[in-house]
Amino acid sequence: MATPQVILSLVVILINSSWLFFLPHLCHGHDQLEKCNFDKIYQLGDSYSDTGNLIRESPVGSSTPFTRLPYGETFFKNATGRCSDGLLMIDYLAIALGLPLLNPYKMTDADFRHGVNFAVAGSTALPVEFLTKKNISSPATNSSLSVQLDWMLTHFDSLCHGKRDCSKKLENSLFVVGEIGGNDYNYPLIEGKGIELAKSIMPNVIEAIKDAVRRVIDYGAVRVIVPGDFPRGCYPMFLTIFPTNDSTAYDQNRCLKQLNNLTMDHNNRLQEAIEELKKEFPDTVIVYGDYYNAYQWLFRNAPYLGFDEIVIRKACCGIGGDYNFNFRRICGTPEVPVCSDPNQYISFDGIHSTQHAYMLMSGWLIQDILPKLQCTV
Ligand SMILES: *[C@@H]1O[C@H](CO)[C@@H](O)[C@H](O)[C@H]1NC(C)=O
Ligand SMILES: *[C@@H]1O[C@H](CO)[C@@H](O)[C@H](O)[C@H]1NC(C)=O
Ligand SMILES: *[C@@H]1O[C@H](CO)[C@@H](O)[C@H](O)[C@H]1NC(C)=O
Ligand SMILES: *[C@@H]1O[C@H](CO)[C@@H](O)[C@H](O)[C@H]1NC(C)=O
Ligand SMILES: *[C@@H]1O[C@H](CO)[C@@H](O)[C@H](O)[C@H]1NC(C)=O
Repeated sequence: MATPQVILSLVVILINSSWLFFLPHLCHGHDQLEKCNFDKIYQLGDSYSDTGNLIRESPVGSSTPFTRLPYGETFFKNATGRCSDGLLMIDYLAIALGLPLLNPYKMTDADFRHGVNFAVAGSTALPVEFLTKKNISSPATNSSLSVQLDWMLTHFDSLCHGKRDCSKKLENSLFVVGEIGGNDYNYPLIEGKGIELAKSIMPNVIEAIKDAVRRVIDYGAVRVIVPGDFPRGCYPMFLTIFPTNDSTAYDQNRCLKQLNNLTMDHNNRLQEAIEELKKEFPDTVIVYGDYYNAYQWLFRNAPYLGFDEIVIRKACCGIGGDYNFNFRRICGTPEVPVCSDPNQYISFDGIHSTQHAYMLMSGWLIQDILPKLQCTV
């Protein structure tokens, strides 16, 4: 397995080249992935993986800034509903598997032969009804994890005839359950309801993700990746919402300790849940996707990875304050400026990463996950 140093030297070579040159350099990984012979990917999740569902599913979604430039400016030169300037990690994963980019479920007449993306930006792991009872509102969408799983079932009902046929058709599919659950914590934090409320729903969030993994296995999944969450204490949005003069509130990366602690707790419990699921389903390969450490690796090595040290804590698209973020003037709204070179930034809009950051984290993740998928022939 490649060491972080090896990966680092690979990406350093690639800093000034376009993403197209990225994967051939990871050809060792590429070969291994091809041994899996994956022919389809099914993705559940939120804005880290939505490739166009939110902007299509409702009038609320179609009025979000994600329908407009500068979202999509770098790769697509137009908005696609992806919450970034370009490609997401699921796009890089699809490319690494030699598959076309995943179409969103809500795209009519789309080609779903190589899988479907069910992720919806803004969605939660817990049903909206549950959150409402806790006085937490989900402003953008009601399409939580269980809704996405229902869509998936509807899709499989049209794809195959009965369970055995489905299992046969899905034997070379890769399922990605998440990242999901981050918004269940983000909403109470953003709505000013305190970290305790966010923490209190953690067992429910973990159970919802666990149930989702059980459901995809029941549908026929044999290889499942379950990603954890990114260190939200490093986001320009949270750094802006929770300013403090107390230097002990920040960790060595100048991220908010308390919020990263919340994320770490979630990720630790999620990994425990995965271990339990592995015992429950010994014939299924279930792998944790370590988004947290991919991000930390990126943050720590930012200067060597081509990011501008002065702006790594700021959003590329946004305005004002220490972090170039203002909730009342978010990216994609009138007269909010966008940086001239998103590749110099980790955060695109204060919450979501730039394509460049996603590309580098995907490289790290693919190297980490590959050997664990047990695809050697
Ligand atoms: C950009 O996307 C919008 C929909 O989001 C579409 O109406 C428009 O035609 C696209 N423009 C180009 C140049 O592709
Ligand atoms: C629910 O949240 C709102 C703010 O969003 C707050 O005004 C209200 O007091 C909360 N209600 C309860 C029962 O906690
Ligand atoms: C979510 O569901 C509620 C209740 O049915 C509805 O009022 C609301 O408009 C829905 N929200 C979205 C974003 O569709
Ligand atoms: C930090 O200190 C400065 C100067 O004393 C003060 O103006 C500012 O309001 C303080 N910020 C917070 C978040 O307490
Ligand atoms: C997070 O903080 C809580 C309370 O201080 C502590 O019990 C827990 O171990 C911390 N979690 C991590 C992963 O550091």
